[in-house]
Amino acid sequence: MSIATAPAALPQANEPCWCGSGRKYKRCHKKLEGRVLQGEVTPMRSVPDHIARPPYADTGEYEPWDEPMVKSPEVIEAMRRSGKVASTVLREAGAMVAPGITTEEIDLYIHNRFIELGAYPSTVNYHGYPKASCTSINEVICHGIPDSRPLQDGDICNIDVTGWIGGVHGDTNATFFAGEVSPESRQLVKVTEEAMWKGIEAVKAGRPLSDIGRAIEDHVKPYKYGVVKAFVGHGIGEQFHPPPQVLHYYDSRQDSVIMRPGMTFTIEPMIALGSIGYKIWDDDWTAVTSDGKRTAQFEHTMMVTDGDAEVFTGGEGAASPVAPWHR
Ligand code: MF3
Ligand code: CO
Ligand code: CO
Repeated sequence: MSIATAPAALPQANEPCWCGSGRKYKRCHKKLEGRVLQGEVTPMRSVPDHIARPPYADTGEYEPWDEPMVKSPEVIEAMRRSGKVASTVLREAGAMVAPGITTEEIDLYIHNRFIELGAYPSTVNYHGYPKASCTSINEVICHGIPDSRPLQDGDICNIDVTGWIGGVHGDTNATFFAGEVSPESRQLVKVTEEAMWKGIEAVKAGRPLSDIGRAIEDHVKPYKYGVVKAFVGHGIGEQFHPPPQVLHYYDSRQDSVIMRPGMTFTIEPMIALGSIGYKIWDDDWTAVTSDGKRTAQFEHTMMVTDGDAEVFTGGEGAASPVAPWHR
């Protein structure tokens, strides 16, 4: 299937729509003006046989099992490595973001780079997902599928990558600028990264998980941004999304989940300029804001220790440190 893309010169409201539907432009595609249009998605790529594969890789399905939230020393050591791999791939992919490049081209690089580093790109065939990354542009909240749409000057583009190596996943994302981005969007992106770090700074053994959401909410409140509730952080290790859930807003249900040294999870707030209402495109993955306003996101994989969180996808060379105190 091929998807019509808008021409450079758009019709007047009462003229026929450019898509050939025969309806007036104002009754057809006009409401999508300024929104991210779906491009074409290429078929799923294969991963060579010498790369070890997670259990879902062949069928797209697997039985979740009861994975301990506190990891063994072996799993922790493996997660340091998978975190480093994911962080390397994210940094390099982020450097490709510029007007004119397609997210398909960026994803091809990500796919091959994970393989080169000995990792399976975790998202490939995860519940049937077709690509090695999620690329979420402007009003796309998360799970955007890389496609043929060239990035436009002024776009903000989140790239989310996860790699599986040594039997464990490392998951990280960041929002990048294509060309000249408006001050409004730059501020959104900056505050979102700051909010993620506020959440990470709230990670302390003996404290409830709800501290994380509270810290994130407190940081974005003065800007009147929305904290997306429909998508949450998660445990991570041998499985991609085991317990616990990590909410990015305060919820008393997480008062009783106490952080323990050796627990691993992600923090990945999605922050909205407008309302947090969302819709899913008919590709069954892409989540967009209902009001069409932009969102930004940052993500790290980390472990609770007796001191500060150990950020497996952070450190030297991570893509995310924009916030002044982490620069
Ligand atoms: N990396 C995403 C996360 O942060 C998950 C993507 S799953 C996919 O949890 F199937 F949508 F790729
Ligand atoms: Co994640
Ligand atoms: Co992710």
